[in-house]
Amino acid sequence: MAKEVKSVNYGLEKIFEGAQDFLPLLGTDYVEFYVGNAKQAAHFYKTAFGFQSYAYRGLETGSTDAVSYVLKQDKIKLMLTTPLNSKSSINDHIVKHGDGVKVVALWVDDARSAYKETTSRGAKSYQEPKADTDEFGEVVTAGIYTYGETVHMFVERKNYDGVFMPGFVEWKTDYNPPAAGLKYIDHMVGNVGWNQMNVWVKWYEDVMGFENFLSFDDKQIHTEYSALMSKVMSNGNGRIKFPINEPAEGKKRSQIEEYLDFYEGAGVQHIAVATDDIIKTVSQLKANGVEFLSTPPEEYYKAVPGRLDIFDHELREDIEKLKALGIMIDADEEGYLLQIFTKPVEDRPTLFFEIIQRMGARGFGAGNFKALFESIEREQAKRGTL
Ligand code: FE2
Repeated sequence: MAKEVKSVNYGLEKIFEGAQDFLPLLGTDYVEFYVGNAKQAAHFYKTAFGFQSYAYRGLETGSTDAVSYVLKQDKIKLMLTTPLNSKSSINDHIVKHGDGVKVVALWVDDARSAYKETTSRGAKSYQEPKADTDEFGEVVTAGIYTYGETVHMFVERKNYDGVFMPGFVEWKTDYNPPAAGLKYIDHMVGNVGWNQMNVWVKWYEDVMGFENFLSFDDKQIHTEYSALMSKVMSNGNGRIKFPINEPAEGKKRSQIEEYLDFYEGAGVQHIAVATDDIIKTVSQLKANGVEFLSTPPEEYYKAVPGRLDIFDHELREDIEKLKALGIMIDADEEGYLLQIFTKPVEDRPTLFFEIIQRMGARGFGAGNFKALFESIEREQAKRGTL
């Protein structure tokens, strides 16, 4: 009998006894990108990924130096921000990094406490606690720096019932492409420089009270040409998972080095978004023009039934459909997972997305790393960056 397989729905219960609760996190609040042209980027995320218009601030709302579009799909909120003049410091970020993630905002019950607890443990301040109000109530935000120029904002919205936060208005448009079934952010991965992984692992442990949930060394994550190391950090209730990668020595340039070269420093490498029906979601994204990495070879799919059998799991999806879309399968004791990766979504080979469907497994697709990295290396070879 195959084991009962169910989608993992992380509850509020503590999954790591050792994790400290000085920083209770309710979930991801939003992810903010600094981009060269937010209006066009918003069109891309709506058209290609099925995000919906949600909130806006710009000249019409009194925001004179930057414009922001907030897009929503189920629990996922993306903010796209562009400066409106050359004096804005946002320009420096875009010049250096290209379009990329500036803020990974975390939803908290008490932003002042989150700021105090983290800065007293060594976090560098980005923004002191600030309360913004309008007729719908109050939102308190505060921010700290993490790796590179990336920031964690703490967002307290328990006394607010407006659309997004003060300063924004509801964004309504006549162009509303259908959602693609993306539900929530499963994990967000950071790339850091040589010998920096353990520095940031310790930072997440000491400053944020996270725990090291899984580790992969370069012996596990390598191809013929390149290698990397990765440690997955998780908060106490398991809702926030941040794997941290660093490059490792290999014969050729790894994808992590390529990222660091083009992003010109540490930053967010990929955002993994969860779906309940990956075949439907990926079919729709492909039809919308989202570009994915190439399909793994035939031998990869031949090995899948054996890999599931080891753990006595039964694949509920049609493997031919998964193969036709290039979706990868990995299994562990608890279940299996289905995943696929987009190509970078900017011209610089930096940030990309992962689409993931968890069928019990809580891992990150370690069994797929080799096939995935070989696929990335084929792209790197085309770019001349391998
Ligand atoms: Fe991932």
